[in-house]
Amino acid sequence: MIKDEFFTLSNGVQIPKIGFGTWLIEQEKVKKPVLEALEVGYRHIDSAEGYGNEVGVGQAVRESGLARKEVFVTTKLRAEFKTYQESVDAINKSLNDLDIDYIDLMIIHAPKPWGEMGNPNAQRYQEGNLEAWKALEEAYKQGKIRAIGVSNFDQNDIQNIIDNSEIAPMVNQIKIHIGNVPNDLIEYDKAHNILTEAYSPIAHGDLLANSQIALIAGNYDVTLSQLAIRYLLQLGTLPLPKTLSKEHMADNLNVDFTISADDMDKLNNIVG
Ligand SMILES: NC(=O)c1ccc[n+]([C@@H]2O[C@H](COP(=O)([O-])OP(=O)(O)OC[C@H]3O[C@@H](n4cnc5c(N)ncnc54)[C@H](OP(=O)(O)O)[C@@H]3O)[C@@H](O)[C@H]2O)c1
Repeated sequence: MIKDEFFTLSNGVQIPKIGFGTWLIEQEKVKKPVLEALEVGYRHIDSAEGYGNEVGVGQAVRESGLARKEVFVTTKLRAEFKTYQESVDAINKSLNDLDIDYIDLMIIHAPKPWGEMGNPNAQRYQEGNLEAWKALEEAYKQGKIRAIGVSNFDQNDIQNIIDNSEIAPMVNQIKIHIGNVPNDLIEYDKAHNILTEAYSPIAHGDLLANSQIALIAGNYDVTLSQLAIRYLLQLGTLPLPKTLSKEHMADNLNVDFTISADDMDKLNNIVG
């Protein structure tokens, strides 16, 4: 079953094939859904320093009754931190706030500060990303983090790290859902042995109203959400769905069906 399956990262670390997203779930509210997700069978939680919920995520992991090694926890280095020292401090703060001995995966949240992400003329922060990366590499070598990676990085941003650092990113977490598939970047990641994680797999819920997708979901007697998640797995990417409903959590893990090549083609041609 998918819930018991893993991708293997370039350094041999195994990562559960579906992760539970926690964006916009506040510190005071996050413990309950994460505990429920772990009860339902998720073994991979996606958090971020920028989500302001690491303390609650860590509490849920500790209180779940599961052995630490059974749960894979990702967090992210804030997009705004582009100096070595800020990054070292932020990594230590995440370790402290999560309070789960070590972090399984830590990724640079974005190549530029969020305020500049939409601006094509903004500087690329190549030096800043190398400084942040150096801090991640050191924490990785010290055993504080089991795998390191990036998020929202394009080919140039990743190549900068590969060309100028000791360790290559193991993961790139980007926005992918039916109607929004950056094929070239996914191919680039594959060619460089980088696992692509798919965030916003249901387009924040927007896919659920799409009648074309509903028709295809009907072929398998699954929900739109299940189809959207299965589609991403068949692209070779790792989906990170978020929900506050325990029923939806179970639904999103129950994706042990196969979308036909013909339907994959139809889904590939849906325009987002
Ligand atoms: N690296 C980055 O920059 C970045 C950016 C964005 C997101 N992310 C990660 O990706 C995760 C997911 O992305 P997202 O939060 O944008 O949203 P998403 O997972 O694409 O969609 C979440 C929405 O879908 C609904 N939903 C989920 N499962 C459902 C189901 N089975 N049936 C019906 N509705 C369902 C949820 O509502 P209900 O609660 O009512 O189920 C919620 O409104 C984030 O939480 C975060 O961990 C990363």
